Amino acid sequence: MTQSLTVSPSRGLRGEITVPGDKSISHRSIMLGSLAEGTTCVHGFLEGEDNLSTLKAFQAMGVNITRRSDGVLEIEGRGLHGLREPADVLDCGNSGTTMRLMTGLLAAQRFFSVLTGDQYLRKRPMKRVVEPLAAMGARIWGRDGAARAPLAINGAALRGIEYRSAIASAQVKSALLLAGLYAEGETTVHEPHLSRDHSERMLAFFGAEVRSFAGGVTIRPEPRLEGREVRVPGDISSAAFFLVAALITPGSELLVRNVGINPTRSGILDILRSMGGDLQLLDERTLSGEPVADVLVRASALRGVEIGGDLVPRAIDEFPVISVAAALAEGTTLIRDAQELRVKETDRIAAMVGELGSLGARVEALEDGMRIEGVAGLQGARVRSHGDHRIAMSMAVAALRAAAPVTIEDTACTATSFPNFWQLLEQVRA
Ligand code: S3P
Repeated sequence: MTQSLTVSPSRGLRGEITVPGDKSISHRSIMLGSLAEGTTCVHGFLEGEDNLSTLKAFQAMGVNITRRSDGVLEIEGRGLHGLREPADVLDCGNSGTTMRLMTGLLAAQRFFSVLTGDQYLRKRPMKRVVEPLAAMGARIWGRDGAARAPLAINGAALRGIEYRSAIASAQVKSALLLAGLYAEGETTVHEPHLSRDHSERMLAFFGAEVRSFAGGVTIRPEPRLEGREVRVPGDISSAAFFLVAALITPGSELLVRNVGINPTRSGILDILRSMGGDLQLLDERTLSGEPVADVLVRASALRGVEIGGDLVPRAIDEFPVISVAAALAEGTTLIRDAQELRVKETDRIAAMVGELGSLGARVEALEDGMRIEGVAGLQGARVRSHGDHRIAMSMAVAALRAAAPVTIEDTACTATSFPNFWQLLEQVRA
């Protein structure tokens, strides 16, 4: 799994692409489809490794999930109380969303379960979900005092709490909302900035009683969830690589179709526009409660900007590729309030500073972000993905503007979120 790939400089990206389904929404469609009564059909489900980890975990808990010949996923819901004890450890692979959301859900089941993951996931912090769940009455054990996976969970009767999260994290919020489906009384989560709200939207779409208010969300227990037709929009976090690629490569004009533009996720569009990027939204529409558009992007001269505050959670997965745009912009870009990047699939601040530095960019690490001085072009080098899909794809984007080919080591990880990334890149370079 250490396949390396070489990307050569480009003279412009042209054409039309459709990016694969949204990773966050795909996870949630399996979870809620499994807990609903009746059948859920998921159109545009992302068949990336992260989502397949979630799918297999629910199959292991007795849920019938099949892929129809037309690609639609059919989930035979078992109802809120229909999951069965898995006979073996559930492997979440590289997927933090699978592990954290399922910890919340499993804490409320009347059975025992164990969650593990790959070498990267087993290093990531789990206390952020374990602690508030314990306050609801959950019984969870794990390494480092239940701060790291593997986690062992003895399902228990939970009580609703009012929780003030110190971090803006959709995974923390969603873990508590899923636990709250089973708790006695209401569960309320407050967050310092609004994190992605796909759980709230999809819970409401399936019939749960969720109430969002400024600064938080409340869920009432024991709803009757009903199977639905879910149409998953394209993942803006995947589109982001192509948006930046087209912006930084002179001569580019690219149409990216079917991109989810949920305001809690569209920070990348605001950031790239404030940098001077030419991005147009076409044919705005709504799919299963989520806003969607086609995005037309043209190569643009970019300038440095300051990024912080509530823009950070709205673009949290895009900072690796934003740092590539900044490395080639005129002037200085300052990214602050982004300390969460230190605990993603890898430490994304350290990884991008190191790898972009090898390409000749001028990047400095800050405790909570990066300072980037733009340069006119990058140089060829051998770089590493750190086992992180978004670092690998960001390096491929940077390579388009290098003076010589860039070899990226360990690229198999791109399959976690974007299995056909390399084919699409080939297609638009042609
Ligand atoms: C996700 C939430 C975010 C994001 C991750 C997916 C989700 O994580 O980085 O890729 O689907 O809820 P945090 O909640 O840790 O910020």
